[in-house]
Amino acid sequence: MITQQFKGRSLLTWLDYQAEEIRYLLDLSQQVKEEARKGEIGRRFAGKTLALLFEKRSTRTRCAFETAFGEEGGHPVFLSGQDIHLGVKEAVEDTARVLGRMFSAIQFRGFKQSAAETLAEYSGVPVYNGLTDSFHPTQALADIQTLEENFGNAAGKKLCFVGDGRNNVARSLLVICAKLGVHVTVICPPELSPDPALLALCEPPARASGANIRVAADLKEVEGAHALYTDVWASMGEEGQKEERIRLLGPYQVNQALMDMTGRADSIFMHCLPAIKGEEVTAELLDGPRSRAWDEAENRKHTVKAVMLATLGLV
Ligand code: CP
Ligand code: NVA
Repeated sequence: MITQQFKGRSLLTWLDYQAEEIRYLLDLSQQVKEEARKGEIGRRFAGKTLALLFEKRSTRTRCAFETAFGEEGGHPVFLSGQDIHLGVKEAVEDTARVLGRMFSAIQFRGFKQSAAETLAEYSGVPVYNGLTDSFHPTQALADIQTLEENFGNAAGKKLCFVGDGRNNVARSLLVICAKLGVHVTVICPPELSPDPALLALCEPPARASGANIRVAADLKEVEGAHALYTDVWASMGEEGQKEERIRLLGPYQVNQALMDMTGRADSIFMHCLPAIKGEEVTAELLDGPRSRAWDEAENRKHTVKAVMLATLGLV
């Protein structure tokens, strides 16, 4: 039974999930969304507790986890980097051991992927990566759900990520697309190309799924894309590099002219948000009819509810 494969597992990156497991979570998320639309909110997290650790700011991720868990009877506890000793005055593994005695699961948003891994190793409870410098896996799940709401099964569809190809969002999209057979092209200046080590990790799953993974500098590569996806030019923690990014990524703004270059009248615009209008995307496009950014934001909640239900053994 696939549900038994999830109990107790963490979600740190999609690299250690099989395609059929991701498929199961997507289907569960769709079911959870339909239930929510009908007002069928249960008490499935009653008696459970969730630690929400945030070293970096968040609107969507915090609200998605907190409302998804709380509305079904769970008790989420928000802990910012100002509140707890994580890595400051207490080793991360010691904090992990203590939290594991009090909480059913932990969500971590922060800088180092290694901190998420240490929390998972020492807490003994599922740890959800709510964004690190390296990955943003729960975002990518919501993105695939959104793609499928528009085009059906994501396998065989083409998604172009235009922007900083080394960032957490691009990296998680590369992995999930490789697993699910989504053709993904990262379009960026060579200085911001995805890490070759990550591309190498994506090769075996891409071969198995039939995903075509490409990296290119030429914007003409958007031709045929079902979705154009972008993200801020300087991620949290990289604010000092903003000037350089504007110089490198200025020509890569996603706008109506670039949407037209897809050659598809039904192509959609995607963004994890928050967006800086006038930089990586025009206000016209983000606020316009091709934008699915608001659906992606809503799907963050349904997808994390599905992940928590599965990994807490509640389905
Ligand atoms: N997309 C996303 O993770 O948004 P927040 O930074 O607001 O959580
Ligand atoms: N790449 C962005 C994503 C924000 C959700 C960042 O890390 O700031």
